[in-house]
Amino acid sequence: MRIDILTLFPEICRAPLSESMMKRAQTTGALDLRIHNVRDWTTDKHRTADDAPFGGGQGMVMRPEPIFAAVESLRVEGTTVVLMTPQGRTFAQSIAQELATYEHVIIVCGHYEGVDHRVTEHLVDMEISIGDYVLTNGAIAAVVVVDAVVRLLPGVLGDEHSAANDSFSAGVLEGPQYTRPAEFRGWKVPDILLSGNHSEIAAWRNQQAIDRTRENRPDLLADE
Ligand code: ADE
Repeated sequence: MRIDILTLFPEICRAPLSESMMKRAQTTGALDLRIHNVRDWTTDKHRTADDAPFGGGQGMVMRPEPIFAAVESLRVEGTTVVLMTPQGRTFAQSIAQELATYEHVIIVCGHYEGVDHRVTEHLVDMEISIGDYVLTNGAIAAVVVVDAVVRLLPGVLGDEHSAANDSFSAGVLEGPQYTRPAEFRGWKVPDILLSGNHSEIAAWRNQQAIDRTRENRPDLLADE
């Protein structure tokens, strides 16, 4: 899969997407990630990418010309263009799964007070918000989306099956996990996990997942 990120702050994306699994995804070729500075598509000597909003108001708005120029130079047949914005659809595992099936995604990161609305109307296929809060910077949100999508690409997680049991993929939250030591500060790992009885362990985990979901995210069970 190829992902192009367009941002005014490429360094915000670079470090988190060049470690661990994201690094491996690029080394193995599962991910072709390119992070670009939108200013590279400006044409004036000050490399102006933003301006004051028409009609007045606080802050700056990203101008449409460099964003259009960048997307038009990078997109190919079948490219999906995503805009990171707090006004978008709320990101969820189902959207990550959908994006992971695409060959090429361009992610435009909004900054300041947002982007000129002609970008949203005439260039973008999908607006995504990572939650009901406002960040200073869409690049942080883009990192979240890229990570969630790339870990779903075939071969990226060591064990091909490990994404299947994720919280949200299974419709409930993942149950608790324990590792050594079997006793820590007097707190013992549940006996069942040391029993070697795989079917009872599976049933226990299932129940734990349901209990945890009821406690922390009852909304996920509401439709059942
Ligand atoms: N930019 C600022 N806040 C954001 C959010 N919550 N999601 C996506 N992009 C954003």
